[in-house]
Amino acid sequence: MSYTHTPVLLTEMLTALNPKSGEIYIDATFGGGGYTRAILSKGARVIAFDRDPFVKQFAQGVDLIQAPFSQMAHYVHEKVDGVVFDFGVSSFQLDNPGRGFSFQSNGPLDMRMGEGKVTAALVVNSYGEKDLADIIYTYGEEHKSRLIAKLIVQHRPFRTTKELADLIAKHVKGKPRLHPATQTFQALRIYVNDELHEIQAGLESALSLLKPGGKIVTVSFHALEDRIVKQFFKAHHLKTNKKHVMKPSKEELKLNPRARSARLRMGMLH
Ligand SMILES: C[S@@+](CC[C@H](N)C(=O)[O-])C[C@H]1O[C@@H](n2cnc3c(N)ncnc32)[C@H](O)[C@@H]1O
Repeated sequence: MSYTHTPVLLTEMLTALNPKSGEIYIDATFGGGGYTRAILSKGARVIAFDRDPFVKQFAQGVDLIQAPFSQMAHYVHEKVDGVVFDFGVSSFQLDNPGRGFSFQSNGPLDMRMGEGKVTAALVVNSYGEKDLADIIYTYGEEHKSRLIAKLIVQHRPFRTTKELADLIAKHVKGKPRLHPATQTFQALRIYVNDELHEIQAGLESALSLLKPGGKIVTVSFHALEDRIVKQFFKAHHLKTNKKHVMKPSKEELKLNPRARSARLRMGMLH
């Protein structure tokens, strides 16, 4: 099976970044390389990052560094015109059952984007009930976090995504049109990959590399990510575009329903 990732808000990202020939950009989340190729097509140079070794195969002829984007300033020793972040998981991570991100297919409880040591299985099978409840509440914004943590402790060990998803579905009533395990899976993924700290450190690293007038463009997929970006732009007095947040058009949503919750922001250094 081959996996692809359809870039989200691609036109909007290009409009916001406006790359030109001779300029240099960092694509902090290379993924399937959709953003990188679009920026390269404008004649600019790109240095790409991704923590997932799987993406190397999409990077022929691309300057790709396999590292968390929080470390980009360790690798890049020149100032850049812009940095773009497209947070979250790619379709090839989500759609590959072996990576354990999805409750819709059965796979090992893994959820690691990179090569970290903490897996979702380690968390659900060994963490205390209170720690589990805190993780599910903080990173999943799940109001039934205590009940879910209790159920997990009572029914563990879990080996697969399906075992965990089925247990939650059996005992917890979800929100309309949302699988009852959605927020728990989001929470585990964010925890396993330390995603919110990565975003904060990634933005700081990006800012330290910007030329005057340089831009940071972000695409976030849930409120926890978006809030960090919004507060970061404010705290550092970055100039934002008139339309602060851009969302996918109806046409894009028709073609790619996964873009549903995407929000693009742009901040420019004075
Ligand atoms: C939504 S995809 C990016 C898709 C890309 N814009 C495209 O057009 O194909 C997100 C990618 O970012 C990577 N990623 C997520 N968090 C990261 C981090 N902290 N450091 C480096 N890469 C990260 C993931 O491994 C994934 O491949």
